[in-house]
Amino acid sequence: MSIALIVLAAGKGTRMKSDHPKVLHRIAGAPMLHHALRAGGALSPDRTVVVAGHGSEAVADATKDFDTHADIVLQTEQLGTAHAVAQAGNALKDHAGDAVVLYGDTPFISPETLTRMAKARDGHDVVILGFEAADPGRYGRLVMQGDTLEKIVEFKDAGVRERAITFCNSGVVMARTETLFSLVDAVDNENASGEYYLTDIVEVARARGLSATAIACDEAETLGVNSRSDLAVAEEVFQSAKRRALMDKGVTLTAPDTVFFAYDTEIESDTVVEPHVVFGPGVKIDANVQVRAFSHLEGCRVAAGAVVGPYARLRPGTDLAAGTRIGNFVEIKNATLAQGAKVNHLSYIGDASVGTDSNIGAGTVTCNYDGVMKHRTVIGDRVFIGSDTMLVAPVTIGDEAMTGSGSVITRDVAEGALAIARPEQVEKPGMARKLFEILKLKKQKRLSGES
Ligand code: UD1
Ligand code: CA
Repeated sequence: MSIALIVLAAGKGTRMKSDHPKVLHRIAGAPMLHHALRAGGALSPDRTVVVAGHGSEAVADATKDFDTHADIVLQTEQLGTAHAVAQAGNALKDHAGDAVVLYGDTPFISPETLTRMAKARDGHDVVILGFEAADPGRYGRLVMQGDTLEKIVEFKDAGVRERAITFCNSGVVMARTETLFSLVDAVDNENASGEYYLTDIVEVARARGLSATAIACDEAETLGVNSRSDLAVAEEVFQSAKRRALMDKGVTLTAPDTVFFAYDTEIESDTVVEPHVVFGPGVKIDANVQVRAFSHLEGCRVAAGAVVGPYARLRPGTDLAAGTRIGNFVEIKNATLAQGAKVNHLSYIGDASVGTDSNIGAGTVTCNYDGVMKHRTVIGDRVFIGSDTMLVAPVTIGDEAMTGSGSVITRDVAEGALAIARPEQVEKPGMARKLFEILKLKKQKRLSGES
């Protein structure tokens, strides 16, 4: 069965008080829209249509970032959810299969729930996703007659008895694509809001003798984001679930509530993540790694047995082989460290490769940027870089070479060589003592009021 996703993302999100479209606000490092698209991915859709309106260019770009094959259609005026779905009609006019309506601001619908909806489609023409609401508030109410969904009544249009219903509409709909658009076409806007309600398709379907039902999911899945507070709640929901999932997988989190993951963080078992670590997108960590406190990682790979931090920063393009050590106040960017390499203190290693078992002394900097272009530093195997070495790229340090502390290395160093590039030391006997005496005398005069 071919599946088409229709993702509604035209709304402004007034309550976000933002210049950016609501669906592009991020949860765990990814726009909400991507979370919705990823959820829909559980059904392996052949087609995806995103309905954009407010900030449509940015929404289109974000859609393409996720799926270059997705279609973006425009809803220039937000006349209601049925009107929004109708905008996808042209793009899907030849689609033979089922369509699912999802929402760009509803990020947590689970794969399992969507699969259950698809199953329910075997017996019904229209399947709606509902939930038992702890506080039904202004949600649309699902009017059930046994297994059959008779209609959905929006809060504004509901009478006292309908408002008492606690089984509510999530908004997610599944039907044959052709059926969906034919139902949507029949919806009018004669209601309390003057909007074209997608929810009205149920009554239209029933009047045509089609069958409709609703299945229930956990209310947490239907969590929608309308304000910054909702966004913070959604972030917390994501983080708690991710922490639990990683611990279930065998990762130790010493203080789970202080660690923040990205949507795609991957960590293998027996890795320990100490308190106050933040993961940006694109991090993969093997087993038995120690990520020590207060580190920040993004876009990097860390192989088994490595130790990172405390206070380390791994930026995109970092690739740490097994047994590497990155210590405190070390920043690594776009750099490969081979097995057993160590950068333990106060260093910047960027646009570089460091060979097996090489040791980078404290305070070393790869000077990769000349103000216009970036250049590479290549460090061989078993190299010893003395503390406070400036490696002015492009530069290559051969295997088993050494640099003297405080060197500014501007030319390649041959393998096995020692390079020292700093002024010679000069020594003036007794000079320090004399200087101290002169200075102390000066201080005394100043204190006694003389100039
Ligand atoms: C909708 C449902 C309601 C359900 C609730 C769940 C309708 C009529 N009502 O109400 O039964 O309980 O969701 O949260 O469907 N959108 C567009 N274009 C439009 C209108 C909306 O893209 O013209 C998008 C919005 O950006 C939003 C989503 O659709 O993401 C839902 O629209 P909204 O107006 O918030 O519907 P609700 O009143 O919440
Ligand atoms: Ca809403």
